[in-house]
Amino acid sequence: MPAIVVVGANWGDEGKGKVIDFLAEEVDVVVRYCGGHNAGHTVKNPLGTFAMHLIPCGIFNPNALNIIGNGVAVSPEAFVKELRMVQAAGISTDGRLFISDRAHLIMPYHKLLDGLNEKGFGDNAIGTTGQGIGPVYTDKAARLGMRVGDLVDTAAFAERLRFVLEQKNRLLTRVYDLEPIDFATLLAQCMEARDHLLPFIADTGAMVRQSLAQGKRVMLEGAQGTLLDIDEGTYPYVTSSSTSAGGAAIGAGIPPTHITKALGVFKAYTTRVGAGPLPTELLDATGEQMRDRGQEFGTTTGRPRRCGWFDAVAGRFSVEVNGFTGGALVRLDVLDAFPVVKGCSGYRLNGKVVEDFPSHVGDLDRCEPIYEEMPGWQSSTENARHFDDLPPAAQAYVRRLEELLGCPFDVIGVGATREQTIHVRPVL
Ligand code: IMP
Repeated sequence: MPAIVVVGANWGDEGKGKVIDFLAEEVDVVVRYCGGHNAGHTVKNPLGTFAMHLIPCGIFNPNALNIIGNGVAVSPEAFVKELRMVQAAGISTDGRLFISDRAHLIMPYHKLLDGLNEKGFGDNAIGTTGQGIGPVYTDKAARLGMRVGDLVDTAAFAERLRFVLEQKNRLLTRVYDLEPIDFATLLAQCMEARDHLLPFIADTGAMVRQSLAQGKRVMLEGAQGTLLDIDEGTYPYVTSSSTSAGGAAIGAGIPPTHITKALGVFKAYTTRVGAGPLPTELLDATGEQMRDRGQEFGTTTGRPRRCGWFDAVAGRFSVEVNGFTGGALVRLDVLDAFPVVKGCSGYRLNGKVVEDFPSHVGDLDRCEPIYEEMPGWQSSTENARHFDDLPPAAQAYVRRLEELLGCPFDVIGVGATREQTIHVRPVL
């Protein structure tokens, strides 16, 4: 069976949790492939409401195998906290939740360095989630990382930690003028983490490849969004992992040739947390109304999200980069109250109209959106279960977005629960 990847089309927080949750009902394996507990996937299902950060959303399907892939950065504390949350809801994780031995560990000094970096950046701060994500991937690339699998052999772990900590302490004491981190204390902390993590550590890439060979259905669960991807996103205002579809094969440990479907999750409007360009941002009452209606506050940090109209230029770029075979348009109901709805079809940059998403943040900052205005529907879509149940103006809005993106919507979300979903075409 081929694999499907589900990717955030914009700057994260598109509502992937809901989409992944209901798709997870129909797959055998769910693999998180990027990011760490900077992600926040909200899932509302018959078992309750859950803010998932690290554990794949497939955990709610009792028959699905759930994998935290090698591309993920794992905070043992965040993992244990989330594990307790799902277990408290009566969900068994025995034999169905694994963490890749190749995944990197978020160490206490990563979180510390994330804060120090941001402070040092001053006005150029990225506005990170402060969870140590940048520093852990920096260490991965610098060959200074501590991997989950290192925990298995305690003697080798201690030896490696001693070496790595020497490098970190040199930085902390000489650059930041801080006290060094005590090796014995840190090792004790890691050994406590080891006790919790050990039953879950596995060569998960091999497990997923075997599942594919057995004809099982695999879903690759993205985190953040395409425009936060370290390569494709609005660099430097991005996260530090490969969040787009191309990163899924690497982060899950499978050949790219197995991924035959890519579902892009789009919000019916646009949001972003943290710094960086957002061409359609609304700094007025309309933006406030979107934030209030959509309860646009970060799942991980509680920060208010910046809001704006749907950006089809950014969306088209996302369709192209990820090769979306279909889309999910979620949170359409948030627009129910607006007399007029808008979609950005192009940008005006230096007196010229551009339809391609610029790669440079300086250009993006100067882009002025060109909007198409459409009549709003000013009635509730929350009870729509078929496309035809939507008010005609909402149908027209959805159809126009599809045209602008060059990608059909397989799924439309009209509320937070699983039921509040319109299945236009089968996704899998
Ligand atoms: P970091 O991933 O914590 O390093 O943050 C880098 C940027 O990505 C910041 O602008 C964050 O707000 C943003 N970011 C990271 N994770 C998420 C997410 O799950 N949703 C939305 N934005 C995110």
